[in-house]
Amino acid sequence: MEIRFKDQSPERIKTDLLTIPVKERGLNEPIIRRLDRYLGGKLSERVKRRNFIGAEGSVLLHPTEGRLPAAHVLLLGMGKEHEIESHFWRRSGAQTRKEAAGIWAEEIAFFLPPTSDLARIAGPLTEGFLLASYQFNKYRSDNKRSFALRALTIVKSGLRANEAADRAVRIARNLTPGVFLARDLINEPPSMTTATYLAEQAKRHCRGPRISVEIWDKKKIQAMKLAGLLAVNRGSQEEPRFIIIRYRPVGRPKKKTALIGKGVTFDSGGLSLKTSKSMETMKLDMAGAAAIIGAMSVLPVLRLPIEVTGYIPSTDNLPSGSAQKPGDIIRYLNGKTVEVLNTDAEGRLILADALALAAREKPDCMVNLATLTGACMVALGTQVAGIFGNDRPLVDTLIRCGREAGEDLWELPLVKEYREDIKSSVADIKNIGSSHGGAITAALFLQEFVAQIPWAHLDIAGPAFAEKDILTCPKGGTGFGVLTLLNFLSSL
Ligand code: BES
Ligand code: MN
Ligand code: ZN
Repeated sequence: MEIRFKDQSPERIKTDLLTIPVKERGLNEPIIRRLDRYLGGKLSERVKRRNFIGAEGSVLLHPTEGRLPAAHVLLLGMGKEHEIESHFWRRSGAQTRKEAAGIWAEEIAFFLPPTSDLARIAGPLTEGFLLASYQFNKYRSDNKRSFALRALTIVKSGLRANEAADRAVRIARNLTPGVFLARDLINEPPSMTTATYLAEQAKRHCRGPRISVEIWDKKKIQAMKLAGLLAVNRGSQEEPRFIIIRYRPVGRPKKKTALIGKGVTFDSGGLSLKTSKSMETMKLDMAGAAAIIGAMSVLPVLRLPIEVTGYIPSTDNLPSGSAQKPGDIIRYLNGKTVEVLNTDAEGRLILADALALAAREKPDCMVNLATLTGACMVALGTQVAGIFGNDRPLVDTLIRCGREAGEDLWELPLVKEYREDIKSSVADIKNIGSSHGGAITAALFLQEFVAQIPWAHLDIAGPAFAEKDILTCPKGGTGFGVLTLLNFLSSL
């Protein structure tokens, strides 16, 4: 898709679809009245009939029937002015893309008011367009001719060459392939996405100068005593993998960051077996890993001046005669012992290895992403991830970076008193808490393995997977976390 900027008046633009953002109750703007005159009053007629007032998220599509060089006009409700922020433009891009697909409009013009801040809008707007264009069609036999946008023209009067806007578009173009990679990895069926496959994909996509991938097989994992990963893998026919992705900048790095991702390629629950219904989407359980592979795959083009190391413990979680059993005890690298009372709380078991390992390298901060608990989904729903951490500035920065990326993070507390809930009668701790506050006890469990390193844990169980089509993503893996991470790494 070509993306360009142009200074042209809307009534002259030859395009398949001309999008005009409209503020709530802002239908009196001169631009709308002018277009309405060209359209013989039919636009305002439709506006009235549909009771369109420009509420946020509402759209009105109007065919121009040859009265304008543009074949269709799309009015896009912006809501009240105070609600207008960067994510609005991301959603607008996505929404326009969706409407365009509906009428097979391959060329789109997006009109921006003369006073708008192009440099601030161009990035999220293009990002929305690009994100909404994702499809996962490789397993459909009817995917012959799918809709593809040819060009997006951002139109603004008095527009001059704008380096900041060009740069923002370039960045959006560089970032979205990372999101798509994460989505692809999640959407791929679970018998395909084994730990071995995930490792191969990491190797294949995290390639280039300054980036390298190291893969530990079962033997090496045994030698390194990653007891949690081995315990969860015991029920499986597939070998586990531990994936380490390293990005090093040219010159001395400004910061050293560790990213840790849960890579459970399929979570049946193990002997503490899930129900069929709750297993349906459990290929999503490597979404944390996917976000890290996706984000790190674009680091070579971003050329950030920091060192980033990704740690991904990966296995599936299956029951069998050799599977770990409730009542088993794991002894970890840092000396801690864990009683496994529920084999379905497997994520924390493998993350413990990775966190302990990462902490030994003494990074400036560690961020882990995991589809860790259904409880977090109960608390925050499917749009918002939970965030926990032991370092105020780190948590605040991540929340801000998430917000700018259109990925909402909401902080949940590491309630000290709940530490009692994970005490075990036979080992140091156990892998489940009481029946309440499951997202918190899971986070407290992880905290046992982070030493004193500034650390944040993102529980992405809700937003990792869209159970129905959403604006920026079709049903399936969303790639949640990729943009937040990249924003965050860019801010360091
Ligand atoms: N992978 C699941 C969490 C999950 C649930 C992610 C739903 C996405 C959607 C995790 O391994 C799990 O099974 N957690 C258990 C923990 C419990 C046994 C303490 C849960 O949330 O039920
Ligand atoms: Mn589980
Ligand atoms: Zn899981």
